[in-house]
Amino acid sequence: MTSTFPSTRYRGSKVKLVDWLWDCLKTFGCESALDAFGGTGSVSYRFKQEGLKVTYNDLLPFNYQFGLAFVENDSIRLDEAVLSKLLEPRVDRVYPSWIQDTFSDIYYTEEENKWLDQTVTHLHEIDGQYTKALAFFALAQACLMKRPFNLFHRKNLYLRLRDVERSFGNKVSWDRPFPVCVRGFAKEANGAVFEGRQSCSATMLDASQVPGTFDLVYIDPPYMNATGSSTDYADLYHFLSGLLEYQSWSDRVDFRSKHRRMLRHKTAWTDKNQIHKAFDELFAAYPHSILAVSYRSDGIPSSEEMKDLLLRHRSKVTIHSYGQYTYALSTNQRSEELLFVAEP
Ligand SMILES: C[S@@+](CC[C@H](N)C(=O)[O-])C[C@H]1O[C@@H](n2cnc3c(N)ncnc32)[C@H](O)[C@@H]1O
Repeated sequence: MTSTFPSTRYRGSKVKLVDWLWDCLKTFGCESALDAFGGTGSVSYRFKQEGLKVTYNDLLPFNYQFGLAFVENDSIRLDEAVLSKLLEPRVDRVYPSWIQDTFSDIYYTEEENKWLDQTVTHLHEIDGQYTKALAFFALAQACLMKRPFNLFHRKNLYLRLRDVERSFGNKVSWDRPFPVCVRGFAKEANGAVFEGRQSCSATMLDASQVPGTFDLVYIDPPYMNATGSSTDYADLYHFLSGLLEYQSWSDRVDFRSKHRRMLRHKTAWTDKNQIHKAFDELFAAYPHSILAVSYRSDGIPSSEEMKDLLLRHRSKVTIHSYGQYTYALSTNQRSEELLFVAEP
């Protein structure tokens, strides 16, 4: 059976661009690669399919689970015993009510919140890091699928429940029962697991801190638009971080926010005054590698600045264009998708 990367809902995912990316990079004959801002893992997975020794990295713990499940993991799958233990309530058991108490009327219905408290309790009792990572993937995708815009940026359960004609979204998916969604994603997750030609690994570090040497470093940082506003992944997906770190979730919630986001931490990648320095330090951190930077033509730094930044660290820069590309749910239809490839 051929393995297929599972469907995901994640802002800025490169899942539809991976074949083009590989076409731009395959001539270098690289044996090892670091995917420094791994996200869903779609690019790492494509490199793994090509037999590279891949290191997936992402700073966010919930993304790291995807790297464990599909890049590092070569053989473990979810079986029916694990799935039914995850999904079915135990009559003799008292479950916590943190999600019910904290997120009432925000993202999911009362019944769904209760199911989430129960299921996340079961999730954290799963033995084996790859089994748990696969189960977390299935649960996280189900959570995203049932959200308008697939995000946790607003208190907008009402969009789902309102009895009106809709020009967007998918009411059928929003209302599909959680256990049905999780089973569907578990099947996709199982279909994605395969053994790489070389051993691959996943890390959860700042992009410039990953130990090792890599023939290729692929760089796909959060996109910052021309006005300096950028995608704060920790913020958009805080609920998934909470599910993964259920025990400490309450310490991290910003109770002043209507949608109970987590307390925010500034990073250089979301600050227009620091982003050039962040790129500069990242490029310096892997002095011997080919650098491949995914970039949208209307962002910060500008494309001229990006080329100059790369030329401070490498002798040759080639720019590949995919042409105009619109990401799912994006309203930006003018920007061009570019790949900067810099050689030592
Ligand atoms: C544009 S997304 C990557 C998408 C990915 N290529 C894919 O196909 O799914 C950027 C990712 O960078 C991660 N990130 C943000 N700051 C980071 C940092 N300092 N180090 C490592 N990862 C970081 C975010 O969590 C997010 O998943």
